[in-house]
Amino acid sequence: MNILAIDTSCDETSAAVTNGRRILSNEMYSQILIHRKWGGVVPNLAQRAHEERIDMVCEQALKKAGMTINKIDAVAVTYGPGLAIALGVGIKKAQELAMHYKKKLIPVNHMEGHVYSCFAQNSKGKPEFDIIFPYIALLVSGGHTELLLFTHHAEYKILGETQDDAAGEAIDKATRILLKENVYPGGPVLEKLAKKGKPDFVAFPRPMARSKGLDFSYSGIKTAFLYYVQEHPDIIENNLFNLAASFQEAIIDSLTMKLERAIDQYEIKRICVAGGVVANERLRKKTRSIVKEKGGRCYFPQFKKLYGDNAAMIGIAAYFKAEKGQYIRNIEELDRKARAKIDKNPFRCCG
Ligand code: KG4
Ligand code: ZN
Repeated sequence: MNILAIDTSCDETSAAVTNGRRILSNEMYSQILIHRKWGGVVPNLAQRAHEERIDMVCEQALKKAGMTINKIDAVAVTYGPGLAIALGVGIKKAQELAMHYKKKLIPVNHMEGHVYSCFAQNSKGKPEFDIIFPYIALLVSGGHTELLLFTHHAEYKILGETQDDAAGEAIDKATRILLKENVYPGGPVLEKLAKKGKPDFVAFPRPMARSKGLDFSYSGIKTAFLYYVQEHPDIIENNLFNLAASFQEAIIDSLTMKLERAIDQYEIKRICVAGGVVANERLRKKTRSIVKEKGGRCYFPQFKKLYGDNAAMIGIAAYFKAEKGQYIRNIEELDRKARAKIDKNPFRCCG
């Protein structure tokens, strides 16, 4: 089943062609250069950039897959969560394609796409491994931080989520505070600095370490970091690397701490870790070693292009939803859901 998938949830205009778990093409146009000077995503600039590129990106995805739209069986699109006016561009394009070419349409939750990025294969079907339920999924992105129980295809239970900011958001803000400039996104910059620093230079608080549950919180640590930087101008100057490493370590510890707790509580040892922050080598290393210690197995996206936002992950999630008949019943009913939750399907489906 060939799926043409679209994701315009934030600052990447992406379209892909997938077949089951296989990625036949995964095109994306990053808007980072447009937003960088503002230190974050500017919604109306994002919308305009998506509008300017969506047709071209879809055409490229088909071309790279060596296909015309006639060979496509269904169209998939991210309906949320994300930036409402950005989501709207992808949804409109998907609706137009589905109606004009008489294709079925599969709405996909963006975070669900991140989960499925761990099961993606290249066009030759590599790496080859089966999906064996259940999994615990740790999703860490710029807008979300959540722990999920992933029990069957397209079925999730939220075990814990952030009570305020997302981990990626805190990383982005801390990088701006540290460097005193509008860097965006902060994650890759902070990681580069952190590689040269000592993670135990400052013991920033590990958010929610004492709370028994599986929720996260990142607004407190962001403020603690801001105060530290304001109160120690003399130390900052010579310790950029050490501060970056210490802050990064506090965030990663808080994530792995909760993951470990979830593994013990649910006695599930198959762990998926995904979302933009999974690009961080230290996060992958730490989760890998914790899961190994527990005798479990870690699943990360296998290709770098799948760490951040991309449409291929949406196409793969869509395939498993299609198998369950989760096509939207009325294409016109599809609408953006900026605050969509992964455990609730907001649309009437055929299946
Ligand atoms: O999933 P994603 O690409 O977009 C959203 O859906 O939010 O995640 C973006 C987040 C940003 O906060 C970015 O700074 C972070 O992922 N990120 C990283 C790294 N690369 C991207 N965080 C830490 N280390 C990285 N290498
Ligand atoms: Zn994302």
